[in-house]
Amino acid sequence: MREFAGRIAVVTGAASGIGLELARVAASRGMHVVMADVQTEALDRSAAALRSEGARITAVPVDTSDAGSMRALAGRVDSEAPAPHLVFNNAGVGTGGLIWEQSLKTWEWVVGVNLFGVAHGIREFVPRMLAAAQADANYEGHVVNTASMAGLVNVPNMGAYNVTKHAVVSLSETLFHDLALVCERVHAHVLCPYFVPTAIAQSERNRPSSLTDDEPHTRSQDVARMMTEKAVRGGHVTAADVATLVFDAIRDNRFYIYSHPNALGGLRTRFDDILQGRNPTDPFRDRPDIGVRLREALTNRR
Ligand SMILES: NC(=O)c1ccc[n+]([C@@H]2O[C@H](COP(=O)([O-])OP(=O)(O)OC[C@H]3O[C@@H](n4cnc5c(N)ncnc54)[C@H](O)[C@@H]3O)[C@@H](O)[C@H]2O)c1
Repeated sequence: MREFAGRIAVVTGAASGIGLELARVAASRGMHVVMADVQTEALDRSAAALRSEGARITAVPVDTSDAGSMRALAGRVDSEAPAPHLVFNNAGVGTGGLIWEQSLKTWEWVVGVNLFGVAHGIREFVPRMLAAAQADANYEGHVVNTASMAGLVNVPNMGAYNVTKHAVVSLSETLFHDLALVCERVHAHVLCPYFVPTAIAQSERNRPSSLTDDEPHTRSQDVARMMTEKAVRGGHVTAADVATLVFDAIRDNRFYIYSHPNALGGLRTRFDDILQGRNPTDPFRDRPDIGVRLREALTNRR
C-alpha cells in the first residue's frame, strides 16, 4: 500500500508503546486512526496528544480479550467506513516465570489478550475487509499482528508468553496463506520485535482484578520481571523506529517484520535443532554470563 491519506487504521494497544507510535505514523500519513485500548485514561491522553498534532483520531475503550468488546469496536468502525484499510492487532501483555509456576489466572489473562485478542480482531475485521475488496476495486487492506521474537525462539522463564507469541506467528502465517487463496488485495503481516523500550514490563498495570493472582509472586516471576525490565530499558531500537519499519513493510508488502534482524541467529539454531532432531541448544550458548545469572537467581528460592 502506498496511499494512506483519507484511509482508516485501527490500532489495538494504542495508548502506549508500539501501538501509540503506529497510531502516530498512521496519523502523520493522513489516516483517520481508531485508537483502542483497555487503559482508558492513558488512551484519552494519547488520543488528545495526537489530536493536538492535527490528527483525526477516534478513541475507543476496548478489552481485546473479550469477543463482545471487539465486536463493539468493529461496529464503531462500521459507522465510519465499510472496512478499515489497516488493522494492527497489537495489544499484548508480558508475563514471566517458570512454566509450572504460572497460575490458571495468568494463563487465562495472557492467552486472552495475546492470542484471543488477535483472533477476535481477525474474526471481526477480515470478513469486512474481504467484502470491501470485492465491492471496491480500489480497496486494499493490511492486517498486522504483533507477535515477538518470543514467537520464533523459546527463551526460558517466560513460557506462557512464548506460547502465545508462537501461536500469533502460526495464526498470522496461516492467515497469509488463507488470504492468498481468496483475495489479492487483503494482506497479512507479523511483527516480531525484540527488546524495545515501552511499558511492556509493567503489564500488570492493566491486568483485570478478576484475573489477578491470589498467591504472592514466585521468585522466578520476580526474576523474569526484573530481567525483562532491564532488557526492555536497554533496547536501542525505539517504538517509533518499529512503527516506521512496519509502514515500510506495508509499503513493500513484506510479511515478516523484524525490529532487530541481526538477532535472528537463535532462530537459525532452533530450526537446525528441529531439522537434525537434536536437543534444543542452550539459549545462552553465546551469552553464558546471562545463563549463569539466571540459574543463580532461580536457585536461591523462597
Ligand atoms: N516492547 C517490547 O520489547 C516487545 C517485544 C516483543 C513484542 N512486543 C509486543 O508489542 C506489543 C505492544 O506492546 P508494547 O511493548 O508497546 O507495550 P505497552 O505496555 O507499552 O503497550 C501495550 C498496550 O496494550 C494495552 N493492552 C493490554 N491489555 C489490553 C487489552 N486486554 N485490551 C486492549 N488493550 C490492552 C495496554 O494498555 C498498552 O497500552 C505487545 O503485543 C507486546 O507483546 C513488545
